[in-house]
Amino acid sequence: MELLSILFLIHCAQAHINARSHIVEVVGRSGVPAMHAAVLPPSGKVVFLDKVEDYSELRLPNQRWAYSSIYDPETHELTPLSVATNPFCCGGSFLADGRLLAVRGNNPLLWLDPTVEDGLDGIRYISSENGSYEWKEPGNKLASKRWYASAQTMSDGKVFVAAGSLNGMTQNNFSNNNPTYEVLDANGITQGHNVPMDILFENMPYFMYPFLHLLPDGSLFVFTDRSSEIFNVTANSTIKSMPDMPGMHRTYPNTGGSVMLPLHKGNNYEPEIMICGGGQTQGIDSQCEATCGKLRPMSSNLEWQMTSMPDPRGMVEGILLLDGTVLWLNGCQRGAQGFGLATSPALDALIYDPRHNAWNVSGRTTIARLYHSVALLLLDGTVLVAGSNPNEMPVLQNQVEPNNQYKAFPTEFRIERFTPAYLRGDNATKRPTNITLSSLELNMTSRLSVEFDLENGLRTLNVILYAGGFITHAVHMGQVMAYLDNNG
Ligand SMILES: *[C@@H]1O[C@H](CO)[C@@H](O)[C@H](O)[C@H]1NC(C)=O
Ligand SMILES: *[C@@H]1O[C@H](CO)[C@@H](O)[C@H](O)[C@H]1NC(C)=O
Ligand SMILES: *[C@@H]1O[C@H](CO)[C@@H](O)[C@H](O)[C@H]1NC(C)=O
Ligand SMILES: *[C@@H]1O[C@H](CO)[C@@H](O)[C@H](O)[C@H]1NC(C)=O
Ligand SMILES: *[C@@H]1O[C@H](CO)[C@@H](O)[C@H](O)[C@H]1NC(C)=O
Ligand SMILES: *[C@@H]1O[C@H](CO)[C@@H](O)[C@H](O)[C@H]1NC(C)=O
Ligand SMILES: *[C@@H]1O[C@H](CO)[C@@H](O)[C@H](O)[C@H]1NC(C)=O
Ligand SMILES: *[C@@H]1O[C@H](CO)[C@@H](O)[C@H](O)[C@H]1NC(C)=O
Repeated sequence: MELLSILFLIHCAQAHINARSHIVEVVGRSGVPAMHAAVLPPSGKVVFLDKVEDYSELRLPNQRWAYSSIYDPETHELTPLSVATNPFCCGGSFLADGRLLAVRGNNPLLWLDPTVEDGLDGIRYISSENGSYEWKEPGNKLASKRWYASAQTMSDGKVFVAAGSLNGMTQNNFSNNNPTYEVLDANGITQGHNVPMDILFENMPYFMYPFLHLLPDGSLFVFTDRSSEIFNVTANSTIKSMPDMPGMHRTYPNTGGSVMLPLHKGNNYEPEIMICGGGQTQGIDSQCEATCGKLRPMSSNLEWQMTSMPDPRGMVEGILLLDGTVLWLNGCQRGAQGFGLATSPALDALIYDPRHNAWNVSGRTTIARLYHSVALLLLDGTVLVAGSNPNEMPVLQNQVEPNNQYKAFPTEFRIERFTPAYLRGDNATKRPTNITLSSLELNMTSRLSVEFDLENGLRTLNVILYAGGFITHAVHMGQVMAYLDNNG
């Protein structure tokens, strides 16, 4: 049976689909280290966001280094962007109006760049204006400083922001920590309260960059270390706690990846969380975790179903693909998050098929994607892979000293494109073309009609809603996929 999918990134137009000849190929450069990234509406261009550095490949009009860029996946064109505050290790989420919000960051480095200020409680917004993009920082601040917080937009449009360090210092020192959450309104303006959250407090120091997934009833799945719960943000209360996930630590500084598997009629739109990888200690010799666990948090049977990747991985990230499978890639087979703390890069692209509980290797890269790497699904259904900067300041290929293990993994500016099986060979031409939507503004009751041209011989049509969210540190904030119950 032919499988055919249409991707609608909410608010996004459809991109050009060309036949691809390689599974993994280098297609461009990110210009700045790709620590954080997102696909932006309506163009499908990619924003990369880094931190204050002593080098990047792009200059701003004021001759300072750029720490952010816009990349066009079709033309590979790069545009430098300026930032007003240091975005180092921020979190992000899309507001309902399509603006991307990037919350907090780190201290300024004024001796390197006096034009970029303290970002520990900063809030930045980006959206398209007449086709061009710009970070805006109107001066709104979070209610507290949060380095390494996660963000998730809720069904009422408010944004939940949780965890973080108060001063950009190690999470092993408990006096630095901020095990609280705050809520921003639909414009990304904080309501001003830092609310203590038990699951964060209890899991220190593994409470930073928690995994968050919005569930269909408006509650939140919150996961830190091995602990998880369903949390009602409105009521400030835990609805139910999950049993601990077996295996090693699963969040920063031994993060694995977390996805909510696609919602579809076949599973009655019941969410299932899948978490893979992780590690043991914040050290270069840390073992990494090969197991993955799957859990249906809203069911009465709260049991982790365990499966295993073909090899152990830290900093592995999960990307939902359009054929219902999950791509797991990037990261290391030994080590942890932090500068110079990982070796043995994981080079195989792994495909997990939830329908058969099966793993396959489906492509291989030669490029190490260690700390500060990203991967995201583009509008044309391919996956962009970028980043790796396990260095405090950029280290270039030609500066590498072989006896220095830490410098053996230079800062990586190359962008690769991974082409999933559904676009390989003849599959690429068997997709709908000339797609038009009746509306881009959707709510729970609206009807949407989709028009397209189709070649003969296709028997299955899936219409999928997908939000790619914001990616950093292997944490995909806000990624969600739902198959519409279409009459195709
Ligand atoms: C965008 O275009 C509209 C209409 O042409 C114009 O009124 C507006 O000033 C433009 N905005 C910017 C930021 O250039
Ligand atoms: C822990 O952090 C506090 C506040 O930043 C600092 O004053 C203190 O010296 C730190 N303690 C250790 C053991 O590093
Ligand atoms: C969350 O709490 C609010 C306020 O108490 C309540 O109205 C809502 O039904 C709760 N949601 C869930 C999913 O329990
Ligand atoms: C929210 O819940 C936490 C943990 O139970 C509690 O410490 C805190 O006081 C509550 N805050 C508010 C504003 O209800
Ligand atoms: C995919 O994995 C399954 C079992 O997990 C195996 O039987 C099959 O041969 C694999 N296919 C390929 C193409 O590697
Ligand atoms: C085309 O897609 C099908 C279904 O996803 C897959 O089984 C097949 O291997 C793909 N063809 C190629 C050349 O990868
Ligand atoms: C796209 O579809 C419209 C009708 O919806 C048709 O008028 C137009 O010719 C088509 N364009 C192409 C390039 O096929
Ligand atoms: C949902 O969208 C439809 C248009 O698609 C509109 O008529 C309706 O008022 C909207 N409902 C809500 C609750 O916003």
